[in-house]
Amino acid sequence: MSAAAGTAPLLEVRDLRVRYGIGTRAASAQRTAAVDGVSFDVAAGESLGLVGESGSGKSSIARALLRLIPATGTVLFQGRDLLQLEGAALRATREHLQIVFQDPLGALDPRMNVAELVAEPLLEFRAASAGQHREQVTRMLGRVGIGSELLGRYPHQLSGGQAQRVGLARALILRPRLLICDEPVAALDVSIRSQIANLLRDLRDELGLSLLFIAHDLATVRFLCDRVLVIYRGQTMELAPRDALYGAPRHPYTRALLAANPVPDPARGAPRAPPPAAVLTAAVASGGCVFLDRCPLAVVRCTQQAPLLRGVEASLVSCHRASE
Ligand SMILES: Nc1ncnc2c1ncn2[C@@H]1O[C@H](COP(=O)(O)OP(=O)(O)OP(=O)(O)O)[C@@H](O)[C@H]1O
Ligand code: SF4
Ligand SMILES: [Mg+2]
Repeated sequence: MSAAAGTAPLLEVRDLRVRYGIGTRAASAQRTAAVDGVSFDVAAGESLGLVGESGSGKSSIARALLRLIPATGTVLFQGRDLLQLEGAALRATREHLQIVFQDPLGALDPRMNVAELVAEPLLEFRAASAGQHREQVTRMLGRVGIGSELLGRYPHQLSGGQAQRVGLARALILRPRLLICDEPVAALDVSIRSQIANLLRDLRDELGLSLLFIAHDLATVRFLCDRVLVIYRGQTMELAPRDALYGAPRHPYTRALLAANPVPDPARGAPRAPPPAAVLTAAVASGGCVFLDRCPLAVVRCTQQAPLLRGVEASLVSCHRASE
């Protein structure tokens, strides 16, 4: 559900940058930062899709927002800079910001049963006994389609779809304001994907959630999201309302991404070859376009200047080819 125009953003991300292994050989081998100056807003009640091929930096953005990895920039969540918060203040804010991962089984502690898994965030963030939370846990599990007969099961006794439902219940039990979903349906059978996507949409509307929804599956992004942010090599290519982006993509990379839909799953395909080095490195260092080595429209000027994006909305004002 779209947020009303004019309401203050719930999340304001400005110039977010992530570089792995600073000071290590891995860092010097990494030609560009994993996230290289990304800015966007998510309004209350809004669903923002985050798309881009494998390695473009989607999960790094999610991990940076959750403070799971070091990052620079500004991440205002409900007006407070998450990147500056520490200790109790960070904990209190993180309560309202939850994540659902791609691998539902891997994300669940194998030693805990379903009831314990969903009660755990309550016990961690809210002082009370497991008994006091039982009703709340059962109700939330029921809401995501997990019946009471599954309460005593352990993760390995669940199907992928059931495990993802438990992951959702765990993420939502604290009633967060923002849910980050990092490829939440990618590991599931096709038949289960639409069930989980429908469930997410219903829960989002019912709970007034904002979503940052990361996916390769552009059809699910179209189904769930109000706006879509397209990134490539850690940089914003385009940010546009869903219908504009799918109906008339402006950036050559967005067009390539949509043309390749469904975007190949990196888990199943061969890893992408590293970018041809020297020309791209030099071009990016001097402000050139990161997509130039693959862009069918590239011209010489693209080695000196990236496409112009307007403000934090990153609506594409010009790609050099368009103005040639
Ligand atoms: N722990 C890490 N150490 C070093 N480099 C990393 C690490 N995690 C990710 N990277 C690199 O950072 C870049 C962005 O990776 P990231 O996982 O954010 O991409 P992604 O868009 O989520 O990809 P995918 O669609 O495959 O999940 C890639 O070049 C990746 O190799
Ligand atoms: S700036 Fe040039 S290389 Fe980059 S997307 Fe536009 S036309 Fe392609
Ligand atoms: Mg990822």
